[in-house]
Amino acid sequence: MKDRKPLALFLVIPMFVAASTSAAQSLRQAAQDIGLMVGTAVKPALFSNPDYARTLVRQFNIVEAENEMKWTATEPTRGVFDFRAGDRVVQFAEAHDVKVRGHNLLWGKYNPAWLEKGRFTPDQLRRIMKNHIQMVVRHYRGRVFAWDVVNEAFDSEGHLRHTLWYDEPGIGLAGKGTAYIAQALRWAHEADPHALLFYNDFAADGINAKSDAIYEMVKDFKEQGFPINGVGLQMHVFDPEDVPSNLGGNIGRFTRLGVEVQITEMDVALPLAGHGQASDSQLAWQAIIYRNIAKTCAENPGCTAFQMWGFTDRYSWIPAHTKGKRGAALIFDADYGPKPAYQAVVEAFQRVLKSHPQIKEERLRFERRVAAIGY
Ligand code: XIL
Repeated sequence: MKDRKPLALFLVIPMFVAASTSAAQSLRQAAQDIGLMVGTAVKPALFSNPDYARTLVRQFNIVEAENEMKWTATEPTRGVFDFRAGDRVVQFAEAHDVKVRGHNLLWGKYNPAWLEKGRFTPDQLRRIMKNHIQMVVRHYRGRVFAWDVVNEAFDSEGHLRHTLWYDEPGIGLAGKGTAYIAQALRWAHEADPHALLFYNDFAADGINAKSDAIYEMVKDFKEQGFPINGVGLQMHVFDPEDVPSNLGGNIGRFTRLGVEVQITEMDVALPLAGHGQASDSQLAWQAIIYRNIAKTCAENPGCTAFQMWGFTDRYSWIPAHTKGKRGAALIFDADYGPKPAYQAVVEAFQRVLKSHPQIKEERLRFERRVAAIGY
């Protein structure tokens, strides 16, 4: 045993040096250098875990509650609001100079039973919806800089989903297209005129029927002067073939409408064999996907945040969501070690700084324009 030690040390040292060199600049710093916000979904119950908290504040400058600002958490009983878990996210963020994205105010899924099974009339629902949006937004006024006001309203063909809010029974605007979304935005805007208001969806990352429908909605809202400031592209990647090839084009067309684009929930779920471990080659192609998306966002001034749906494989939603078939979707492994994907994102940001030295100013100028025009 004894004589093996020097060899082991010899092998370990170069790896350690390589890792510490690559860790020299944090993700947060690399993003800051190009004026980009970099974020993650968080679980406030884990803030007391030192590894979790340390990694979080070193690597990210925005956070979003994974579940704690959703309807089930904030209004578990009709008219009774509970902001305790959400407040923990805001307090933690403020203590570490991190900004908070709010998620979300209106969704057809994951609503509390009292709401889903309540058999309310459109008139009652309208009042419930207004009260909820305004209570939550008012509570976090000035502390949450951006809200996903409406989540996942379109299907893959670009049609509005049938939901409680739209037409089952809806708030009195059934059959009137996106009018209920405009209404949600107006109520949120009344409650906090300074918060940036987003529409957020999945599988609308590239140019396709769903993102076309979102584009038409945003264009219409801008023309009518409705308060919309941004579009959130969730960017959940489940297969290499899923990767949007024309993300840049999609970001570009929204940018030209005068709204921000933020990548809001990126992860790259790897198909895992029985042992649950990703192979080196899987981690390598995962890194390429992260690199490409990070680069496209970073080099577009209209893309103002790059956020992932968690950061450590220990606490990703993917295994539960895929019944254990997929996992290892994030940029840190289960022991908080940086994966190839982490390095790929940092390098993508660093390279954009070299290839587009003006990008920080351009992005700040764009953000200022969106904030000044408002809508
Ligand atoms: C997911 C959470 O990660 C899970 O913990 C929860 O059980 C369900 O919701 N799109 C969204 C997120 O907008 O709110 C979802 O979060 C993931 C998909």
